[in-house]
Amino acid sequence: MLKAKHLLDPMDFTLDELEETFQLADHIISNPQKFSHVCEGKILATLFYEPSTRTRLSFEAAMLRLGGNVIGFSEPNSSSVSKGESIADTIRTVACYADIAVIRHPKEGAPKIAAMNTTMPVINAGDGGHQHPTQTLTDLLTIRNIKGGLSNLTIGVCGDLKFGRTVHSLIKAMCRYENIKFVLISPEELKVPNYILSEVLKKNNIEYKETVTMEEVLGELDVLYMTRVQRERFFNEEDYVRLKDSYILDKDKLKYAKEDMIVLHPLPRVNEIAYEVDNDPRACYFKQAQYGMYVRMALISKLLGVR
Ligand code: NCD
Repeated sequence: MLKAKHLLDPMDFTLDELEETFQLADHIISNPQKFSHVCEGKILATLFYEPSTRTRLSFEAAMLRLGGNVIGFSEPNSSSVSKGESIADTIRTVACYADIAVIRHPKEGAPKIAAMNTTMPVINAGDGGHQHPTQTLTDLLTIRNIKGGLSNLTIGVCGDLKFGRTVHSLIKAMCRYENIKFVLISPEELKVPNYILSEVLKKNNIEYKETVTMEEVLGELDVLYMTRVQRERFFNEEDYVRLKDSYILDKDKLKYAKEDMIVLHPLPRVNEIAYEVDNDPRACYFKQAQYGMYVRMALISKLLGVR
């Protein structure tokens, strides 16, 4: 059903399409060998104009584990981008070689421009401070499988809610499930953009509150989604230095949280979760990274229409 579709925004998939993708991911997790050849003869291109560890490597690992191959660049200066080639021309060229492309770009909307210039499926792997839909697939699969579903949850998102694209995509996607509440924890300067408040939360009648302190709301949460302060999107270093350690989750603070709350983080972590938290059973961020590969295997299979 999803064959040859692009994934640029978390709303590009219906709830049914999302659930189908999660069910396929579950199936792959329990029978990986059954899927080890389904993408034989297919090529995935990874076009990364910004740094990445998890997103690029999990996409590449996903394609290799499906029996396909991978081409691409992780450093735009090593490609013709450095000679001034437009994204439209790059994607037209890549479509001559590959069957599906994954793009990360510092400019908001760049993957959309690429998608408008090809019929090959294009996946947005993060565009500036805008959206990161495949991180959201990862987050949703993690919450669904660990909490047993995607409804009736109070979700705290903490850190850089202004520039954090994973947060924007997560809020957009979660608004479609039943009885979801959001607690938005950030410094004044890093609050969620107005369009998320008005066009996503208010429009969908989602209950939310904004707060600056983490401790006083921790006990209400079923999911705590931590994020790093997005240094690369700041106009000056002084502001970054002042705000970077606004929140540090440690063992002491976790005492305020429910026993079955889960802590997620898209990673990379900088300082916002103390290493001592990693051994707490509520810390699920590395499990989350693992789900990321499986959900990308499901996504690639669906968009390529392989069986
Ligand atoms: C995120 C991103 O690139 O937006 N990383 C990721 O893909 N897991 C989060 C971040 O960089 O802070």
